[in-house]
Amino acid sequence: MTHTTLPKHYKAIQQKSRDLNFGQISEDEVGVLLRLLVSSKPFATVLELGTGTGMGLAWLAEGLHPEGNLVTVEKDKTLLEVAHSLFKEDNRIEFVNLDASEWIEKNKEARFDLVFADTWAGKFTDLEAVLKMVKPNGFYLIDDLNYQAHWPGYHQEKVLFLVKKLKCHPEFYTFPIDVGTGLMLLCRK
Ligand SMILES: C[S@@+](CC[C@H](N)C(=O)[O-])C[C@H]1O[C@@H](n2cnc3c(N)ncnc32)[C@H](O)[C@@H]1O
Repeated sequence: MTHTTLPKHYKAIQQKSRDLNFGQISEDEVGVLLRLLVSSKPFATVLELGTGTGMGLAWLAEGLHPEGNLVTVEKDKTLLEVAHSLFKEDNRIEFVNLDASEWIEKNKEARFDLVFADTWAGKFTDLEAVLKMVKPNGFYLIDDLNYQAHWPGYHQEKVLFLVKKLKCHPEFYTFPIDVGTGLMLLCRK
């Protein structure tokens, strides 16, 4: 994929992820889409579940309105610290070191223009609670939906069930996107 611009700290995140042997950073296709979605919402409020080392965050921050805000939740302190060290000057971003299910339970009333659910919570667990957090006309994005050889047997079933459920969700328009690891984009009606 070719880009006109890459987000701030892109190379540093790649390098630090390699140093930590963290191989789960978002692909560029996801990043480009995150940036586009967030830039379509002036003053956007954004939730990312599963910060990792901050690759998705970097793309989100790039598209985020100067008065927007973004909450990113990660249970692994070492990974979160990578993202925090690079973006700590950006006061639009709140870094939360917590299990995402716990965070969801404590913040059920929060509402967002875009939710990027990039860990189990908000996708395979806590799904309805997180979908409720999506504002009208707001987006919900997930990836890793295409079969991967390393998946344990039961995981594919879980994914197929999730995809079917989301495709038929009465409160959302749904668009499967067959790029990268396989994405699904939802927009609340
Ligand atoms: C796919 S990676 C995130 C990648 C990142 N969003 C990006 O764009 O590069 C998933 C992350 O979720 C974190 N994670 C796993 N279980 C979690 C949980 N219960 N609560 C919060 N974070 C969790 C992992 O430590 C990992 O960093």
